[in-house]
Amino acid sequence: MNHDGQDANHFPVNGAGYAFPEADREAVYRAIFQRRDIRNFRPDPIPDEVLARIIRAAHHGPSVGFMQPWDFILVRDTERRQKMKDLFDREREAASCFFDEPRRSAYLSLKLEGILESPVNVCITCDPTRADVVLGRNSMPETDVYSTCCAVQNLWLAARSEGVGVGWVSILKLPQLRGILGIPHHIIPVAYLCLGYPVEFPPEPGLQTAGWRDRLPLDQLIHVDGWGNSGEEEGWQGFWDALDTEVGSSR
Ligand SMILES: Cc1cc2nc3c(=O)[nH]c(=O)nc-3n(C[C@H](O)[C@H](O)[C@H](O)COP(=O)(O)O)c2cc1C
Repeated sequence: MNHDGQDANHFPVNGAGYAFPEADREAVYRAIFQRRDIRNFRPDPIPDEVLARIIRAAHHGPSVGFMQPWDFILVRDTERRQKMKDLFDREREAASCFFDEPRRSAYLSLKLEGILESPVNVCITCDPTRADVVLGRNSMPETDVYSTCCAVQNLWLAARSEGVGVGWVSILKLPQLRGILGIPHHIIPVAYLCLGYPVEFPPEPGLQTAGWRDRLPLDQLIHVDGWGNSGEEEGWQGFWDALDTEVGSSR
């Protein structure tokens, strides 16, 4: 076996031959862990070639039956973005009644969008009619929307690697959002995203810093061989030890 984990016939051993070199692997994890939802943007435009690479990354997301149900609406037009911001302001105010004080004031003090500050917004939609019969979607019709979310995450990670911040704005009513962007009725707007160079990439989620909600401990979210089972007596101890070593306190 050579040092890349491949034997003389170049068959990978335990998948090691397919693993990225360490620096590349680190870069993938860096994009994952340093990705943030961004709400404070600098006004500098995103160069077209950077935006094109990010959108292409989204298009290479996985999709049920290779359906590729997504479309990408790129929005620079200030008038449309102003309408979106007005819609957001109304919805944000309306949503505040779901919280009692002091949570309501805390909610209203949070900055939850960067629609006008960011140089471009991207609405990613899902077209449930894109294919007649979609392999794999019969039992779970929602998988077309799930697929669209995979495109969103690809975009988010690619953007992070380019130094571009992304903020997802969901405090928007769909009929009005459709109206502003001229989206047909059968198309589902899945994500409304603000893209731009951030003032900073904070080390932790803004909602965590604001004391709104903490990251949940990962070990409490893992079940083995069935719901509610930690599997410690069934040979899973090695995994739990590895989780402690690999993840430690930053779960
Ligand atoms: C489906 C979805 C909708 C979201 N909607 C909003 C939103 O309307 N406003 C906002 O400020 N953040 C929104 N976020 C961002 C989350 O608040 C953020 O992802 C979470 O706090 C974790 O922070 P991080 O993305 O920096 O890790 C949304 C995220 C997702 C996945």
